[in-house]
Amino acid sequence: MDKELRIDKNNVPNHVAIIMDGNGRWAKGRGMSRIFGHRNGLTAIRETLQAASDIGTKAVTIYAFSTENWNRPKLEVNALMNLIVSALNSELEGFMRNNVRVESIGNIESLPKKALKTLKNVIKETQSNDSITLTLALSYGAREEIVNAVKNISKKVVNNELHIEEISEKIINSHLYTFNLPDVDLMIRTSGEQRISNFLLWQMAYAELYFTDVLWPDFRKEHFFDAIIEYQNRERRFGKTSEQITTKK
Ligand code: FPP
Repeated sequence: MDKELRIDKNNVPNHVAIIMDGNGRWAKGRGMSRIFGHRNGLTAIRETLQAASDIGTKAVTIYAFSTENWNRPKLEVNALMNLIVSALNSELEGFMRNNVRVESIGNIESLPKKALKTLKNVIKETQSNDSITLTLALSYGAREEIVNAVKNISKKVVNNELHIEEISEKIINSHLYTFNLPDVDLMIRTSGEQRISNFLLWQMAYAELYFTDVLWPDFRKEHFFDAIIEYQNRERRFGKTSEQITTKK
């Protein structure tokens, strides 16, 4: 494929985070219910994973259900939970075939029992796969994640397991849900919305942000490659000057 050939395989993002937005609008445009849009979002997830795997990206994290999503109508929340269960079950074979390891971040204990059980099973079954890690953000909110980290660090300080002076970025990192993931290099949000919506706030500190008008159910490999090409055309300075980056000082 043309677009894939334009990608420099030595400069691919290690970790891509995705806000899959626009399922509801996609369905509405077809006179269908919102859950029809969510169901059609699964193809986009599959294509994204294949594309990411093709170019050598090691981690993809998708915002499947936010803490705020619990406030949606009960019917939609239930349908989404059922979809998560059926998708995890039906995709397991593909995850094994493609060597995909599944992980989750978020307050997963708040998921319905069946969803939690299915999720834990898929995480266990795929734990030795090592081609790419798909992390599902479920009942996830970045502020809640940071609050939890602060509480857990405070407990250690109170119990004399940690001194205040030892609290560092590294220590905070190690108390986040994402402790075993690298920082996000690229964040993709579909559907034209340009917000971060409480997703991986700490981990995206230096991420490149990419927004596209494509609605999530229409997102395909070529759209993922467009995002990667744009990423490779950006200059990541991490606070340095352009000259320092180009002369590698
Ligand atoms: C946002 O579109 C999408 C979601 C809130 C959920 C997407 C979830 C899935 C596709 C299921 C993933 C499941 C697994 C197991 C991988 P929206 O409803 O906000 O769309 P709108 O902005 O057009 O209303």
